[in-house]
Amino acid sequence: MQATLPARLYGCPDAWARERSAVFGKAWLFLGHEAEAPATGDWIATDIAGHRLLAVRGGDGALRAFHNVCRHRAGPLVSGSSGHCGGELVCAYHGWRYALDGRLRAATGFGAAEAFDPRAFGLLALRLETWRGLVFATMDAEATPLLDHVAPLDALLASRGLTIAAPALRRSHELACDWKTYAENYLEGYHIGSVHPALADELGAAEYRVRVEGDLVLQEAIGVNDGPQAGVWGWLWPNLGVNVYRHGAMIERMTPTGPGRTRLDYLFLHDGGEGAIGEALAASDRLTAEDAAICEAVQANLSAGAYEAGVLSERHEAAVAWFQSRLAGIHP
Ligand code: FES
Ligand SMILES: [Fe+2]
Repeated sequence: MQATLPARLYGCPDAWARERSAVFGKAWLFLGHEAEAPATGDWIATDIAGHRLLAVRGGDGALRAFHNVCRHRAGPLVSGSSGHCGGELVCAYHGWRYALDGRLRAATGFGAAEAFDPRAFGLLALRLETWRGLVFATMDAEATPLLDHVAPLDALLASRGLTIAAPALRRSHELACDWKTYAENYLEGYHIGSVHPALADELGAAEYRVRVEGDLVLQEAIGVNDGPQAGVWGWLWPNLGVNVYRHGAMIERMTPTGPGRTRLDYLFLHDGGEGAIGEALAASDRLTAEDAAICEAVQANLSAGAYEAGVLSERHEAAVAWFQSRLAGIHP
């Protein structure tokens, strides 16, 4: 039986700093759907564990990812989650201008007398790859290709005849809990009976299956193939739920925003077919409210000092054990 991670790591500034670099600085991070930036100059941006990232569509049609930070004195190139910048990215602070491929075009106002090579001050680039329209970036130049990480989920979706539809809308929720608290809750079905009574009724006697494959956790409720919950719940290390149903999908990023603080960033995708998106939103709102309430209560208890560590069930919490084992490797 595996012991849990110590409670002191949940909401701790030192743990947050280590996770920022050793987890989020190394992983493939989800930014959005490529259809959210269809034209030259369209961009999407986000912050994940304090990393401020953007992807912009170049004149050659390619999406490129950069840190959303100007090389002069760290001003922002864009603000918000999506938009259009025209033919170049212009810093909001002093107006340095960057081409859409990241090259510095003009250090606005710098004179010819200043010894300065603009080629050394291009935007800080990240690797960007897409899978089924979903856009990911990584700060790790050595990371193995994204497709290697998602291959088992890709194969499972193909075998179930499921596809990822076009993006329909985004929604976010702020939670007073550590990202680990929420992710661990997502990685087990053990709490469904207590926390989600309506979902438990829908699932009925279905067998709830959880398996770990490489960087993925794959969850399925076997035996509800015609119900609204029929589908595949994938989860990609370190913080991305990829829930795919027959008429749509819901991408759920568990975005750390600080020690003990999380923002859930949902992207709903829908094929426009049977099963309205309103139904998916209502189900999501209900489940999120139930999960948020229990996760915030758990976080308060983790921070209260009475509890140091517990134990995990091999039968029900194998994916939580896997998640915690990976994190144990980076924390002293
Ligand atoms: S910080 Fe960007 S132009 Fe000064
Ligand atoms: Fe839940």
